[in-house]
Amino acid sequence: MPKPVLFVTRRMPASTEAFAKQEFDACLTPSDVAISDLVARAAGADAILCCPGDVVDAKTIAALPDSVKVIGTFSVGYDHVDVAAAKARGIKICNTPDVLSVATAECAMLLLMAAARRAGEGERLVRSGQWQGWAPTQLLGTQVSDRRLGIFGMGRIGREIARMGCGFGMEIHYRDMTRLPPDLEQGAVFHDSDDSFLPICQFLSLNAPGGEGTRHWLNEARIARLPHGAVVVNAARGTLVDDEALIRALRSGQVAAAGLDVYNDEPKVHPDYLTLENVVLLPHLGSATVDTRDAMGRVVLEGIAAVLAGQSPANLVA
Ligand code: DGY
Repeated sequence: MPKPVLFVTRRMPASTEAFAKQEFDACLTPSDVAISDLVARAAGADAILCCPGDVVDAKTIAALPDSVKVIGTFSVGYDHVDVAAAKARGIKICNTPDVLSVATAECAMLLLMAAARRAGEGERLVRSGQWQGWAPTQLLGTQVSDRRLGIFGMGRIGREIARMGCGFGMEIHYRDMTRLPPDLEQGAVFHDSDDSFLPICQFLSLNAPGGEGTRHWLNEARIARLPHGAVVVNAARGTLVDDEALIRALRSGQVAAAGLDVYNDEPKVHPDYLTLENVVLLPHLGSATVDTRDAMGRVVLEGIAAVLAGQSPANLVA
């Protein structure tokens, strides 16, 4: 029996490409850059493996060949795929939950520490050759231990950040739609309103999914309710942040520093961030470890294969 045809939109880790070739008649892509001709290239495919940054909107889904039965995304977030449009065409969607939670939480902690302790500025100082040696007042930052960390979105990644924040001696608070059971809450303090949550956030980590429900959640009004000099971290989705509002707050000192791994309209970055010393910027590296990317490949490909075999894998999102 012929293997199902899988179209892969981007170059994948070697282990993922090997697994794809083993399980599927795989059409691989050598490029790291998002493709613009998904519909044409998916001709004859039973399945598509896409990535964040690929446009899989309603128009694209409507134009896909009838042969496509499942779209897997090499990510836990699936805000780049129009799930309702896929459902309407009977196309299933699967993703890569769980396996990237630790790596993404590590990246959020990296940004938190780097923003609080002014690591970007320090690195630029050393590299510029301008550093003149240790000084009592040089690049003084914000201490992390014993500070309150507010996590907006206490899903799998948020809970890993809570666990790591505890290791740094932080007091953990969280805002979500519902309270977690005690075994998942692990002593973190639940907030059922922004009113109680925002004023305690000396550090704020954004960990909610992207999409219309959370678009620009961190706006001018919410930033104004943070403690003066708060540190903001976003390793979730750029769309959670109103960039103009955050940039104003970074300039005024209402937000002392920010660490960003994700952006509105990636790979574009608001040009004003590039001019601000108190922002640490990473290129969407959250899940970028060898182990994690290998695991993501396996999970999403197993999900695609299960769907094509008529099953409902655990990573089926719609
Ligand atoms: C995700 O999985 O959604 C990340 O943003 C990419 O790893």
